[in-house]
Amino acid sequence: MSSVGSTPELEARLEGTFGAHLEAVCERSARALTACGYAGLLVHSGSLLGVFEDDRTYPFEAHAPFKVWVPLQDAADCFVWFKPGAVPRLIVHRTQDYWHKSADVPRDYWTPHFEVRTATDRAGARAQLPADLSRAAYIGDALPELTGWGVGAVNPRHLMRRLDYARAVKTPYELVCLREASRLGARGHRAAERAFKAGASELEIELAFLAGCGQREQELPYNPIIALNAGGAVLHYQLLEKHPPHELHSLLIDAGAEFAGYASDITRTHSYEDADFAALIGRMDQMQQALCAGVRAGVDWRDVHLKAHQLTGELLREADITRCSADEAVATTVTSVFLPHGIGHLLGLEVHDVGGFMHSPEGGDIPRPDGHPNLRLTRVLEEGFVVTMEPGIYFIEQLLDAARADARGRRINWPRVEALSKFGGIRIEDDLAVTRNGCENLTREAFRSP
Ligand code: GLY
Ligand code: MN
Ligand code: MN
Repeated sequence: MSSVGSTPELEARLEGTFGAHLEAVCERSARALTACGYAGLLVHSGSLLGVFEDDRTYPFEAHAPFKVWVPLQDAADCFVWFKPGAVPRLIVHRTQDYWHKSADVPRDYWTPHFEVRTATDRAGARAQLPADLSRAAYIGDALPELTGWGVGAVNPRHLMRRLDYARAVKTPYELVCLREASRLGARGHRAAERAFKAGASELEIELAFLAGCGQREQELPYNPIIALNAGGAVLHYQLLEKHPPHELHSLLIDAGAEFAGYASDITRTHSYEDADFAALIGRMDQMQQALCAGVRAGVDWRDVHLKAHQLTGELLREADITRCSADEAVATTVTSVFLPHGIGHLLGLEVHDVGGFMHSPEGGDIPRPDGHPNLRLTRVLEEGFVVTMEPGIYFIEQLLDAARADARGRRINWPRVEALSKFGGIRIEDDLAVTRNGCENLTREAFRSP
């Protein structure tokens, strides 16, 4: 598994930790299978999705329940077969057509831990599985072939829930991968910042990001959000303008890289030349670091989110954006006008990773705090969780218009809002690995590395 700028030390760390990771996955899967009454697990990597009336396919994304076993991202129609007590079997799909390059039989740090087989089609894969699958659970696409395969259950919720729940706590191997994804993401961010300072367009900034990460777009964990000026107020801004605007004010870039299936999710905001906006970014950075300092095992993430609103109320007041105390801004939901998203989420094989609301592996969800419908994580943090910390403030016309029309309107300094709107907004987002007494900031470490 090579990544741009990777070192022999990384290879050694991957090799040294994968075995224990796979053991942990086997162990938790065996426990979940027993609890749910299954004797085996068949996991599918995903299918290629064809473009309507053409012979092309959409970019492939391997399913996360497959990637937790095997770091193969570009491998459709592969299967992992697991029977507790036996070595897991990987069936690699190798196309036999002369249009595509057939997948190599993988040989990497992880392959000695599998019984690796190959198949040229799904029937060939089926032939390499036990004849009787009636006590096996299957996770993956609902393939038409499945009806004839005799599997016991397709995507059984109670089993998947147990497996998803467990994914929140990362193994040491997964932390190695997440650190590497952060390192690659930081490389991309540095290149993107240089392009911005040189006057590049949004598209050119993205190309710089990709070159910095050494990845093509479909390898990234999500489409980069690269917004110049007021575009920063669109939370998931999806355009990439091909020409720079006439005047440059700011860049909000939310972009991450992927390594071995694991994501980074990083946001930085830059001022082009305005010192006041640069100072506001600096103030947000301080607030973000204060929030990071409160992260440790045992902390209820809902409290982190509510604390973020309190700090946002203070920041808005200090920056003369609001005309009321922080307490009043929170109580009257003025802070939600400027911060309408959650303060962070679980991160791992998916950028918004599964299991953020689960009360227990067996069932039950932890509700979001009233008035905070966009929070994606409500669990109490445990050692090994990886979360994002992403406070921000934005000048979103739709939300500002609504606030202007009601009692919140008199608590907002409208001339100041108007003056700042051309910058769009600010978000600072780091990825944090939770430890017993604090957290490891994967993103800051990555930016510190050469
Ligand atoms: N990149 C999407 C998010 O920060 O959640
Ligand atoms: Mn992000
Ligand atoms: Mn995020």
